[in-house]
This record gives sequence, C-alpha cells and structure tokens, in this order.
Amino acid sequence: MKFGHFDDNAREYVITSPRTPLPWINYLGSEDFFSLISNTGGGYSFYRDAKLLRLTRYRYNNVPQDSNGHYYYIKDGDTIWNPGWMPTKTELDFYECRHGCGYTRITGKKNALEATVLSFVPYGDACEVNQVSLKNESSSEKTVDLFSYVEFCLWNAMDDMTNFQRNYSTGEVEIHDNGQEIFHKTEYRERRNHFATYVVNVPVEGYDTDQESFLGAYGENSCPEVVKNGQSKNSVASGWRPIGSHHIKVTLAPGERKAFIFVLGYIENPVEDKWIGAPEDGKVNFKKADEMRKRYDTEEKVTEAFMALEKHWDELLSHFTVSSSEEKLDRMVNIWHQYQCMVTFNMSRSASYYESGIGRGMGFRDSCQDLFGFVHLIPERARERILDIAATQFPDGSAYHQYQPLTKKGNSDIGSGFNDDPLWLIAGAAAYIKETGDYTILDEKTPWDSDPNNVSDFMEHLRRSFNYTVTHKGPHNLPLIGRADWNDCLNLNCFSTEPGESFQTFGPSEGPNAESVFIAGMFIKYGRDWVQILKHRGLDDEAKAAEDAIAEMDAAVKHAGWDGEWYIRAYDHYGNKIGSHDCDEGKIFIEPQGLCVMAEIGLSEGKCLAAMESVERMLDTKYGIVLLQPPYRKYHVELGEISSYPPGYKENAGIFCHNNPWISIAETVVGRGNRAWQVYTRTCPAYIEDISEIHRTEPYVYSQMIAGKDAPNFGEAKNSWLTGTAAWTFLNVSQYILGIRPDYDGLVVDPCIPSELKGFTAKRDFRGTTYNITVKNESGAQKGVKKMLVDGQEIAGNCIPLQDGKAEVNVEVVM
Ligand code: BGC
Ligand code: NOJ
Repeated sequence: MKFGHFDDNAREYVITSPRTPLPWINYLGSEDFFSLISNTGGGYSFYRDAKLLRLTRYRYNNVPQDSNGHYYYIKDGDTIWNPGWMPTKTELDFYECRHGCGYTRITGKKNALEATVLSFVPYGDACEVNQVSLKNESSSEKTVDLFSYVEFCLWNAMDDMTNFQRNYSTGEVEIHDNGQEIFHKTEYRERRNHFATYVVNVPVEGYDTDQESFLGAYGENSCPEVVKNGQSKNSVASGWRPIGSHHIKVTLAPGERKAFIFVLGYIENPVEDKWIGAPEDGKVNFKKADEMRKRYDTEEKVTEAFMALEKHWDELLSHFTVSSSEEKLDRMVNIWHQYQCMVTFNMSRSASYYESGIGRGMGFRDSCQDLFGFVHLIPERARERILDIAATQFPDGSAYHQYQPLTKKGNSDIGSGFNDDPLWLIAGAAAYIKETGDYTILDEKTPWDSDPNNVSDFMEHLRRSFNYTVTHKGPHNLPLIGRADWNDCLNLNCFSTEPGESFQTFGPSEGPNAESVFIAGMFIKYGRDWVQILKHRGLDDEAKAAEDAIAEMDAAVKHAGWDGEWYIRAYDHYGNKIGSHDCDEGKIFIEPQGLCVMAEIGLSEGKCLAAMESVERMLDTKYGIVLLQPPYRKYHVELGEISSYPPGYKENAGIFCHNNPWISIAETVVGRGNRAWQVYTRTCPAYIEDISEIHRTEPYVYSQMIAGKDAPNFGEAKNSWLTGTAAWTFLNVSQYILGIRPDYDGLVVDPCIPSELKGFTAKRDFRGTTYNITVKNESGAQKGVKKMLVDGQEIAGNCIPLQDGKAEVNVEVVM
C-alpha cells in the first residue's frame, strides 16, 4: 500500500494522505539554519546546533505523536482547520504534501478554500520562510481568520525540557508593529547575543506570545481558545512558555488568491551592539531583523529566493546522473540517494525524529563513512570535514568515538577504544583523494586531540591510524576489538551486569583477548589504500612494510578467521569463536562476509563465493539480509549490548540497512550482478514503496534498521534518515553496480549489473571533465568490460586515464 507517489520531474515525493504510518519528514536548510518538517507541518528549527541553539520547541514521545510544529490555523465560520491536517485533525476535502530538495509544500482544501504553505530555508540566510497562500474557490466572497503559531524553545533544548524551576521565569518577548513582528529574546538580557524573530509581511489584527492565553486554561493546540474565538488576546509573555502567533483577517473575492509571508529567523548581534539605548531599557537592536524582514516582504522576493535554492540543488545533483530502463534506479540515483547523503552531511546523527538533537555528537567513523556519499558533490567541504575529524585523533592513532560539531573537540564522555575508528579515517581520506586527486591534503598541519601546540601533517595521522591496528593485535594475530568495532553493540570487554550502565563506556576500553575479524577485513581493504598513498609519496620501503603487514593479516584471517563456509565474526574474551558453526546462536554474522570479501581475502580459493552463498542461505529474507542468525535469545554478559535487544531488532538480527550494501558490493567482487541487484533493490526505498504500510518509514529515504524475521513486526523500519546507509547504498549503486568509480589515476568503469539490464547511460563529473558514459550490455552479461572507447579511441583495461584539460569526453563501454 502506498500513501503517495514520486514526482520525478519535480524531484518530489507527493504524500496524498496525512495519515502516514509515521510522520514522514523532510529537512530544510543546508548551511546554518535548519528545520525538520513533517508531512503534517510538525517539526522544529535550530541554528547550527540542535541542542544548544534551538529556536522552536518539540516534544518527544508526545501524544498524539508529532503534535508540535510551525502551524497555521484557518477559521472559516465555525470550522477550524489546518492545511496540513494537524493539529486540529479536521477532515480535509483535499490534502497533499510535496517534499522536495530543501523545501516542503503542503496544500489543504476545505469548504472551497485552498491553503498552501510553502516552507524553505533560503540559501545563504538564517531563517525559515513560510509562504501561506489562500485561494477562494467558491462563487461567493469569503472572509476567514488566519492564525500562525510557533512555540519558542528557550535555546538549550536539554535544559528547556528539564529545568522548569528556572525556565518558567526567564521567558521574554518584544513586540513591534502591533504584533506584526515578534521577538523571542529569552536570556538576551544576560549572556546571549541572539534572539529569534517571527514576522509576517502584512499588518495584523492581533497577536499572542503567551501560550496559556493562546490555548486557554488546560488548552491544547488542537483547539486553541484564541482561534476558536476568532480573536487574539494580544498577550505579552512573561516567563512560562512564550509563543508567537499572528492573526490576519482575509477577505477573498470568488477566485481570488492572497499570499502572506511569515519568516522565522535567527538574529545575532555583536556583544557591544546588543541594545538600542541603555541595556536596562531592554530594547534589542533590531537592525538585522529589519533587514531580514525586508528580504522576504513580497512574493516576488520569496520566489526569487526559492529559485535560487532550486538552482543550488540543480547544480549539486548535476554531477552524477544516470538514465536507464529502470525508472526507480534513475530516481534513486539522480535524486534521493544524493539528497539523503547531503542531509547526513548536514546533520550527521544529530536531529531526526529518532535522534533528539541533544544526544550524540558527530561519530568519528560515521563522519568518515558519510564522506563517501558527498565527496563528489562538495569536495572542499569534505576536505574540511576530514581534517576536522583527524584533529580530534589521539597521538597514538586511536580516536575519540565522537566529537562535538560546535567546538570540534573530542567527546570525553564516550572517549575512545572503538578499534575500527582509526581505519575509517584512511577510508575517508582515500575516497577524497580518489575523487579529487588532491594530495596536498596530506601536508595539512593537523592537531592531535585538538591541541594546536601538538600538530603533525595529515599524512602522519594516516600512518598512525594504520599502525594502531598493527600494534594492537591479539592471540590469533587478529586486531583487538576494544570497546567495539563497527558493531557498537558487540561489547566483548564490557561485562556489564547493572541496568543503566553504558555498554559503550563501561568496563576496560580494551582487553588482551577479544579480537575482530571485521577489523582485519577493514585493515586489508583500506590498508591497500594506505599503500597506494605511500607509493605516491615515493615511500617505497614503508609501502613494502605495509604490504607485508597486510599479507600477515590476510594469513591470520585465512588461518583463524575462516570457519569453513564463511568468515568468523570475532573471538571473545575467553578465546571462544563468535559467528561460527560451533555457536548455538549467532552462528553467522553479516559484517565480516561483507568486509572480508571486499578485501578479497581468499578470493582465488573460492572463499569469497562460499561466504556469499552462506549469506544467501542463512541470512536472506524477503526484506533484506539480517545481521546475524540465529538471534541471541538471552542476555550474554560476554557479548554485551547485542544480546540486549529482543530477537530481530537492531544489531540482534535486525536487517541493518548499513551493511546490506556491503554484501551487494561483495557480490560485485565475485561478479554476481543479479544477486548484487537483488540485494540492492530489497532495501531500496523506491523499490519497496508499495509496502509502505509494512515498512512504515518514509519511502524516499533509507532507515537504519528494518525488523528482521525473528521480530513480531518483520519488515517494519525504524530510525529513518540519519544513517551510514545513505552513503553506503549510494557508493554501492554508483561505484559498484553501475561501476563508475574514481580511482587514483583515472575513472574506472566496471559495471556489475543484472543480466536483464541491457545497458545505461550516465554523466559523471570527475576532476574537471564531464564523462558521458554509454554502457551496452546486449550480451546480457553480469560483469566484465569487453571493450572501451574514449572519444572513439579504444583503450586497454577499464580505467579511463585523466583527461587533462578536456571539458567533456564520450565513453562507450561494451560488456
Ligand atoms: C545502538 C547503535 C548505536 C549505539 C551508539 C546502540 O544502542 O544500537 O545502533 O550505534 O547505540 O549510540
Ligand atoms: C549506529 C552507529 O552510528 C554506527 O557507527 C554503528 O556502526 C552502527 N550503529 C552499528 O552498530
């Protein structure tokens, strides 16, 4: 069952019922100001940091769900309704929500009145613009009341939710132009030099800024007293819960349309220039607010800003495009994969409907992997991101597991000890260099542990990352796991028995025994990139030594990491195998099959193919590949968090969407295009749109997890949007299935596609040249390039050498 459809020309998902299984959201903003907006107008805004500078309030776990947002109420006679249905839930005659790139347009109709709310954050500005247009579709004149409503958050979202004894006395607002312009200025009198403005471009009938006055005693936003009475109270908040609400009376002739522009903005003043007059007079310096207001006070200006935003996305999405007989593939590659990658770049794992924006900072490994998805779109920002991440690294090469985006410092609450982290830095750096050819990044002076007095060049950071694994090996010569590797929940040194202890920080950060085969695979795969980088720098001896270390690891995996039909997952503290025939539960795990095959361990001896067959036999389900089988049915103190989840959820045998592409990529290594495709499409949003009632999260983006076959709600997804799945699925489909892959010295084209796909064309910008690529697969192959022509000239192999100076080349590939 579907709740809408894709509109590819408009680059939108069109939701046609407000009763989606879960709120289906979108993100507005791409620089400093961000808003989350759901299909019913729920959500909130923040400036830069979702925890520290939150403009509007959101209540998690609210009843009904998603019942706070930036709302518009219409009172038409006795009927009160919202264009997005919530929160009045008045039945609409028509409803539609179009989520596009950086904007959302919600349209509702009731009693021959059409209301459309277009919401976006203008590129280059720190505000959300809402253009509300009303159209009278009846044959008689209509007069209605329009009320706006936002609830301000007192900036620090965590404090806002907990510290009521203080917060109920600090709230302050300032009102201008009889309520047309409302400033929320809590704490501006003391140490804040920022305030929020909420303004509309026309004079108002009245306004409200105090929530209780607006809603009424014990009122709720599904039926505010002020809206019911059709009259604002001109309340001025003092403490309690400040809001912003405007009241506009609108008269429309038959067929007439009028638009009103509301702007919610963030204004920051220099400390010495905070006030007009004496501070004790309490009048904020509103110069910048005034300027912002003027930037959007007509429809023409809003249209212009909206077009600039569209242009921004046209440009971003022009660097990689595909055209094939598979409509859904094209849709995903050209729009939604890349869009989700940009959102994970902006948000990391901070703010979604599953991440509260007050929790974790930026993950070290998460941020390194996210790079795969956006390095081709914004290489300069990718460069900056890599160096930011590296600057938090410890001098011994280990890493803080997370860092804070605002301070860019490592987060000591969680500390270090996730032994895969350092290797992800090599992975991210390699992706950057392959994309850009910019080796100068290696020379950047980069701090250790954010200490400006302790710096090395970035090359040295990579060296210590590699060496960290070399010097942290266990009894089987495999890498020590530390607190965990990619699987945060495989906590082999933790041994926690008290409820509430954090699996990620309790216990020693490393034990002498517990080892990870997964990290071994990573070490080999990304170690090869390190070797390439060393060779490029002419460090041949060091390259040779690194190759030897890789060969040793390869031997260790073949000796102690192979279980006969698949790769073992790990060794626990007692030296027992995890992910082996010998185990009763957790016999086989997905992660080492993905990474060890990508690292081609035992490829020529058939180990890779055997591992892929085992995955298919033991982990496959119709909704994707589960993380392990059989699930853990009781708590295992020696395994940690993984066994804390009920069977089928999260890391305990859920379908973890992040590592399904690992298997799909691994299948391209063994050349099975049909299977790589099957794995790709099974979790791909556009391909599972038809089961939205089962999947439940947004059908245009990936979620972190889908409940596995052992869970009661098999097929139900959770935690949409902010997941490493975004980058990996795009990497898989673009670089391994379509096979268009940047390499150190050129662009590789090596498709591994289903045999029914008879070819495709793609456009790829790469190091200043546009490649127009035509792949022909008349023979129905799954892999293997027979012939490749570059501007008509046949070349040997499948790597197109750099086309220095050429703006465009045509490439023909025959499979
Ligand atoms: C989750 C993981 C997450 C980790 C760190 C665990 O509870 O299951 O998916 O990465 O916490 O926040
Ligand atoms: C989510 C985390 O953000 C990611 O770093 C981790 O690898 C997965 N969970 C799996 O545990």
